[in-house]
Amino acid sequence: MNTNDRFVDPNIPDELASSIRPKTLADFIGHDALKKNLSVFISGAKSRGEAMDHVLLYGPPGLGKTTLAHIVANELGTNFRATSAPMLTKQGDLAAILTALEPMDVLFIDEIHRLPTAIEEVLYSAMEDFKLDIMLGEGPSAKSVRIDLPPFTLVGATTRTGLLSNPLRERFGIDLRLSFYPADDLAKIIMRSANVLGTPIDEAGAYMLAKSARGTPRIANRLLKRARDFANALHANTITADTIKTTLFQLHIDESGLDAVDRDYMTTIINHYAGGPVGIDNLAAALSEPADTIEDVIEPYLMQLGLIQRTPRGRIVTDKGYEHLGLKK
Ligand SMILES: Nc1ncnc2c1ncn2[C@@H]1O[C@H](COP(=O)(O)OP(=O)(O)OP(=O)(O)O)[C@@H](O)[C@H]1O
Ligand SMILES: [Mg+2]
Repeated sequence: MNTNDRFVDPNIPDELASSIRPKTLADFIGHDALKKNLSVFISGAKSRGEAMDHVLLYGPPGLGKTTLAHIVANELGTNFRATSAPMLTKQGDLAAILTALEPMDVLFIDEIHRLPTAIEEVLYSAMEDFKLDIMLGEGPSAKSVRIDLPPFTLVGATTRTGLLSNPLRERFGIDLRLSFYPADDLAKIIMRSANVLGTPIDEAGAYMLAKSARGTPRIANRLLKRARDFANALHANTITADTIKTTLFQLHIDESGLDAVDRDYMTTIINHYAGGPVGIDNLAAALSEPADTIEDVIEPYLMQLGLIQRTPRGRIVTDKGYEHLGLKK
């Protein structure tokens, strides 16, 4: 099995994302401390009539970074403009976006750790002074021009703060970290989404699904949609724990949310490296997966469950990891 066709890959976008995506802070479930702070910053900026400070959102994929960026614009009552770092290849690409902004707009840049340095440098003065410093022409006739920008709020999202340069990171006044959701919050998200989708789920079903959703709302919603298919196939108008059991079984996902790729990852360390430690590059070669995918998609959740550990000498499978697979050390 390859990570490209994993059902539990949090990077796969939702078909129905826009209908179940919460639009206000009140509808955004969980992360209460973060929401409380954010709402203070939003009302502060609104009452002063200023653009809100720039916001850096970070955390693993599928936890609600894009959703929160939309919510910030919505609560501020401003336009939402979005782009993604890999789409910006020339300084002019960013300049075109910045000069089209209206005062107080929210500009969302996804995967901001992937900005090329030359483009990142354009952002510095744009973020700090709302000025655009840009070179026109090339060679000896090139000259630098400075253009005023309207005040705006940059919302940057990244899965990896470690890859962000210091000068860029320092220009964000607000840092928000999203972590995996506890099952209670995921169950609420699932019940809300089920109602929006028109096939309610009972509480037992919602909790069972929550425990298999890897702490990730996007995965919870995707599993919910498949469970809805199974319920509909049986002409049931409510999703129950039985429906969830069938769904997970059919998708080869266990009760902790692990799939074949996760099990493959752990058994490779156990069978080929005596349980570790093994370096990420060796592991990537053994699994034929890019090291990035392993670090971003597979490992965070396994570490969260305490099934593996990252040590300075490499990855190891913990006692709990052996136990999970039903293996003896
Ligand atoms: N706190 C929440 N309450 C309710 N639904 C949520 C919450 N967070 C996320 N969701 C749902 O989960 C889905 C994924 O969220 P979103 O697209 O914002 O993730 P993301 O962090 O931007 O992921 P990526 O890093 O892959 O872009 C959305 O469709 C949204 O409906
Ligand atoms: Mg996103």
